Amino acid sequence: MHALRVNELSDDLSGVELGDLPAPERQPGEVLVRVRAASLNFPDLLMMRGEYQFKPDPPFTSGLELAGEVIDADAGSGFAAGDRVMGGNKTGAFAEIASVPQGGLSRIPEGLDFAQGAALGAAYSTAYTGLVELGGLTAGQWVLVTGASGGVALAAIDLAKALGAKVIAATGSPGKRAMLEERSRADHVILAEGRFRERVAELTGGALCDIVFDPVGGDVFDECTRCVAFGGKLVVVGFAGGRIAEVATNIPLIKGFSIVGLRAGEYARRFPERGRAIAAEIARLAEAGRIAPAIDRTLPLSHWREGFEAMANRELVGKVVFDVSR
Ligand SMILES: NC(=O)c1ccc[n+]([C@@H]2O[C@H](COP(=O)([O-])OP(=O)(O)OC[C@H]3O[C@@H](n4cnc5c(N)ncnc54)[C@H](OP(=O)(O)O)[C@@H]3O)[C@@H](O)[C@H]2O)c1
Repeated sequence: MHALRVNELSDDLSGVELGDLPAPERQPGEVLVRVRAASLNFPDLLMMRGEYQFKPDPPFTSGLELAGEVIDADAGSGFAAGDRVMGGNKTGAFAEIASVPQGGLSRIPEGLDFAQGAALGAAYSTAYTGLVELGGLTAGQWVLVTGASGGVALAAIDLAKALGAKVIAATGSPGKRAMLEERSRADHVILAEGRFRERVAELTGGALCDIVFDPVGGDVFDECTRCVAFGGKLVVVGFAGGRIAEVATNIPLIKGFSIVGLRAGEYARRFPERGRAIAAEIARLAEAGRIAPAIDRTLPLSHWREGFEAMANRELVGKVVFDVSR
């Protein structure tokens, strides 16, 4: 089977190649899946460079998120041959066949195709955990989402709108602003440059934002600490900008807001009931047509480098989905 192998860690992806491998053998507790689509997430790129918190030893097959059909599963697992499933493990999705722990899979919501199934779970569960579980989002609140063109950020914008929030999307890429105005559901799109707090204050009538959802970090995070309303939440999602910010603790004290760290996967592992409830709520919203993942492009897996480079170079507005059969 085709599989995208990381033979050695590399910044320029020189240690990665598309190879032919034997199909994995299913272990008890796992489900064997014929992968129909797999989506790219920022941690896939970080893992290839050895920069992610989870550091598998090469060689390994890349890819944390897939959608496909069940080939084989344990009796009593709740899965049977032919079921349409989505999910994944931390690695192994960029291959024609994957063996996935059964807890890492759920059914593709009705009405979604394999590409949408592959693009839904990780981004929306991250968005839901950050906005609702940690942020306590309620209808009518103001939400600021940075790094707005990213897969997780676009899911956060879409979900916040579906739940009745007023959303400001902040992008660091001037060229993407018009595209975001057209393609995202944000009420306002602003540039995350310099002192963007003034613009946030203007748009919210001085109220600032109840929840700030920040996947970027660095200077953008620093300015985000000035955009949170009293009693609000600043959710630390990631460091796509490359710098982990530091904050003086007098700032949240004086401004009366909380800074909360998000680890969506770990949250679902530690609180499995909440994890299942989050997945069910995302499926319900998707089936009702109230949320839908933004897909920038679908590529054959043989064009994997184009997808990874587009992500690294910030060219995307939404997710890359790979067709692993080509
Ligand atoms: N905490 C969690 O549980 C969790 C779960 C999943 C992912 N994450 C993290 O969330 C972040 C986003 O993941 P994603 O899959 O949505 O990635 P993505 O699709 O590549 O989005 C990242 C976005 O960040 C912005 N950005 C700002 N500076 C950047 C830079 N120097 N390089 C690249 N992008 C930059 C870009 O948006 P603009 O051009 O619009 O500014 C870009 O589209 C990553 O840090 C990832 O590790 C966290």
